[in-house]
Amino acid sequence: MPEEKNNPQNQPAEMSRRRFFVRMGVGSIAVATLGSGVFGYQFMSPNVLFEPSLIVNAGKPEEYEVNSVTFDPKNSIYVMRDAAGFYAVSAVCTHLGCVTAWKPELDMIACPCHGSKFHKDGTKIEGPAPKPLPWLRMWISEEGNLMVDRGTTVQARQFVRV
Ligand code: FES
Repeated sequence: MPEEKNNPQNQPAEMSRRRFFVRMGVGSIAVATLGSGVFGYQFMSPNVLFEPSLIVNAGKPEEYEVNSVTFDPKNSIYVMRDAAGFYAVSAVCTHLGCVTAWKPELDMIACPCHGSKFHKDGTKIEGPAPKPLPWLRMWISEEGNLMVDRGTTVQARQFVRV
């Protein structure tokens, strides 16, 4: 069928097919370039895990009543105020890391996971927890706020007096 190939009537169909393949090729290259650009951007972007600060602003001392236990679930800490002053205790159980709960009716802190119990000063009453709940560094900021450093433990009975 050589006559058909040289037939000028076939020329527009031939061009159309050629144009189709050129467009397919250009489209494929564009998609590949876009895809590699997206993956390249993700590869070059730092994989940073943003964690909340270990320093907690617990507010003004006058917000706490004497002999109060205030649980901060967001930061897993207790802010205590008794006659001796303020202190902060970690709410994370020293057994396997569950977050404990203050039980005012029992006047104790209890762990829901395996039953460890603690006095409000963090000392252990019973259960599998190997250590007391640690006291956390606490201080008064220049603005007069109670500040707690969740990352720094201190010896027990280091009260903050206002
Ligand atoms: S995690 Fe608290 S008792 Fe096990």
